[in-house]
Amino acid sequence: MLQPVRQFKPRAIYPPIPAKSALGQYMTPPNIAMFMASLFSQNQGSMYLLDPGAGQGALSQAFLSRWKEGGLSFQDGCLDAFEVDPQMLSLCRRNLEEDRAALPLSVNVQHGDFIEHAVSKILRQQRPYSHAILNPPYKKISSCSHHRTLLRDVGIETVNLYSAFVALSIAMLAPRGQAVAIIPRSFCNGPYYRPFREFILKNTSILHIHLFGARNKAFKADNVLQENVILMLERDAPQGDVTISTSTDDSMYDYMAIPHSFGNIVYPSDPEAFFHIPTNGDDIPAHPKALSCMLAEVGLEVSTGPVVDFRMKEYLRSMPEDGDVPLLYSAHFKGDGEWPIAGFKKNNAIKHCPETVKWLYPNGYYVIVRRMSSKEEKRRIVANAVVPSRFPGMDWLGFENHLNIFHSRRQGISENTAHGLAAYLNSSLIDSMFRRFNGHTQVNATDLRSLPYPSRKKLDDLGQWAKGQAVMEQEAIDRMVENILK
Ligand SMILES: C[S@@+](CC[C@H](N)C(=O)[O-])C[C@H]1O[C@@H](n2cnc3c(N)ncnc32)[C@H](O)[C@@H]1O
Repeated sequence: MLQPVRQFKPRAIYPPIPAKSALGQYMTPPNIAMFMASLFSQNQGSMYLLDPGAGQGALSQAFLSRWKEGGLSFQDGCLDAFEVDPQMLSLCRRNLEEDRAALPLSVNVQHGDFIEHAVSKILRQQRPYSHAILNPPYKKISSCSHHRTLLRDVGIETVNLYSAFVALSIAMLAPRGQAVAIIPRSFCNGPYYRPFREFILKNTSILHIHLFGARNKAFKADNVLQENVILMLERDAPQGDVTISTSTDDSMYDYMAIPHSFGNIVYPSDPEAFFHIPTNGDDIPAHPKALSCMLAEVGLEVSTGPVVDFRMKEYLRSMPEDGDVPLLYSAHFKGDGEWPIAGFKKNNAIKHCPETVKWLYPNGYYVIVRRMSSKEEKRRIVANAVVPSRFPGMDWLGFENHLNIFHSRRQGISENTAHGLAAYLNSSLIDSMFRRFNGHTQVNATDLRSLPYPSRKKLDDLGQWAKGQAVMEQEAIDRMVENILK
């Protein structure tokens, strides 16, 4: 059993900071600002701190107050804070005045767009900062915007202001400079953030990740509907274990921190470089050695259901008629499974004709996983084997767009593989792995592709067992998966 490495106790409570939703102005609550400042371990010599999107200066204040109280021992320092909103800017200048007077410190609170400032600095190859602390704005960057063009000029390809601010800050860190950022968890998975994840992995080592246990709690005053993580990174440092800490909310009353091996967080075999963050302080099962295959190595593929019903209305039927084939939704897999469903609100069938055939799969064994689950559901991934004998006389099947389908080159797979894969995906092991990188309720084909899989032989052995079970209890699935992975 791994032991917690440290407890964090907030030292003082600052007055609450008002929040405003324009410009992504979600101010960092005081305890979180103090926690973020407490993470820095570089505390010698001259310091040069960056605070991009500084708002009223809460993060710089927390950092400087740690220095004033003796928690950091720099000889002298310099602070660059950037803020685009003039109102915030004057509050920030006022709030930092006291620290400036009390410390051997020069303070530059600069008005303007941080992205423009940073890009011009990076183009001049300036990397002056020893520390960066940030709670950046969250907003999509459209593909043809001024910001996107500027970012491309310095080789940063990203889709949101928050990842842009973090990448630019990393790019301006001196060797062994440290950055602490609070950002949404959405960057951990998904194809759009892959270049950002790769940028982090290429330029920094991850020292610490803090996860808030409950939705909305970290920013309860601002009602931000995002799960947030705090990342601590060090520029050009060798990657060692990563400290993962958790707390339910910003009071940090139940703070726990545990070291984890890096290979359990970013799997070495994962081409998508997803970040798997353990969700609680329990002993986390290591990524089992028997799970060493990527999906393609097992000879399988996963795709999104190709039938988008509202675009193909003219070919859909509520009940099958001559020449029609099944159109499958998740409802058809509830309980023991039923098709066609009498009185179904959607359509049970799709016409088989030259216009639709490219959207259809030959009838056979497949595995489907719903793309949407609700937060309350016990497992995020709910998988079902598709069994061809349920559709007698049907040569083709249509899969609706809210399903993911496992197949092999758009053909069916073997009976044992289908049953084994469905059981494996329904295991608690997969559920805990999935929750570590996916904080939301969507399950996309890319997510499923990034999971590790056992060998085809092990899947088939599992399927041999699974197809003989009348009812599949969770406990039995978990026991079998554990046995097979030994
Ligand atoms: C999420 S708030 C965080 C403020 C502060 N760092 C804190 O932690 O309380 C982000 C801040 O970035 C500022 N901002 C938004 N876009 C900006 C830009 N392009 N350049 C500089 N600041 C920006 C907003 O006005 C806002 O004050």
